[in-house]
Amino acid sequence: MLRVTIVFLMMSLAVGSVFASATEQGDGARLSRTCAGCHGTDGASPGKVIPIIGGQVEKYLQKTLGEFAADKRPGDVMRNLAKGYSTVEQKQITAYFMARPWVNTSHAVASTAEASLVASCKGCHGSQGEGKGSFPRIAGQHPDYLYLALMEYKQGERTSGLMKLVQKLDETTLKQMAAYYSSLN
Ligand code: HEC
Ligand code: HEC
Repeated sequence: MLRVTIVFLMMSLAVGSVFASATEQGDGARLSRTCAGCHGTDGASPGKVIPIIGGQVEKYLQKTLGEFAADKRPGDVMRNLAKGYSTVEQKQITAYFMARPWVNTSHAVASTAEASLVASCKGCHGSQGEGKGSFPRIAGQHPDYLYLALMEYKQGERTSGLMKLVQKLDETTLKQMAAYYSSLN
């Protein structure tokens, strides 16, 4: 009898957690439709300067949405949009996009980059630029978008203490880095 009770308890716990994650993402799926016009189906943006967000690391998605809503990140469209969602809705949206598969850009251009410079990015963005924790994925992202983002850090429009290293790099080098990471899968 005890055994049956335990099995039943375990089953209901398992079912409970399935329901919880389904609800979390269920609303995320509905809310994400607004984003598809620009970021593509499931966040696999086909454009050149609109970032791929499907499969991006969740903490980074949460951070950026929160910062757009608080006007702490450049991007007029995103600032206005993000303000329309509650914190709970923002979490549902980011949970949904984090769980989509990452689809590499089709705009990648082959490029070599200085090995010692690439080595300096690896500690944070991962050995292949795959991202981890709160460090965004940069591999397979659109080259034009990566360049734009790097320039925003260089010019101080985006503030990130950890990305300060790009301020010393010239535009040609940043273009090379953008091209290099866009071609990694
Ligand atoms: C009208 C076009 C448009 C729509 C609609 C839109 N976005 Fe964006 N989004 C952009 C652009 C452009 C950027 C790049 C801003 C920049 O950093 O310069 C961006 C950036 C982002 C980023 C930051 C990604 C990164 O790698 O830094 C996130 C996250 C994001 N959008 C999420 C969303 C979500 C979630 C929705 C739907 C609720 C949405 N966007 C709807 C155009 C759009
Ligand atoms: C000390 C850690 C660290 C190092 C080293 C580092 N980054 Fe970053 N990078 C970050 C963090 C954190 C962010 C997100 C900052 C923010 O919130 O805007 C970021 C953001 C970026 C973005 C924007 C991504 C997006 O989706 O908008 C690009 C591109 C990038 N890094 C490229 C590089 C390159 C190329 C190098 C090496 C030359 C590098 N990073 C080195 C921590 C680092």
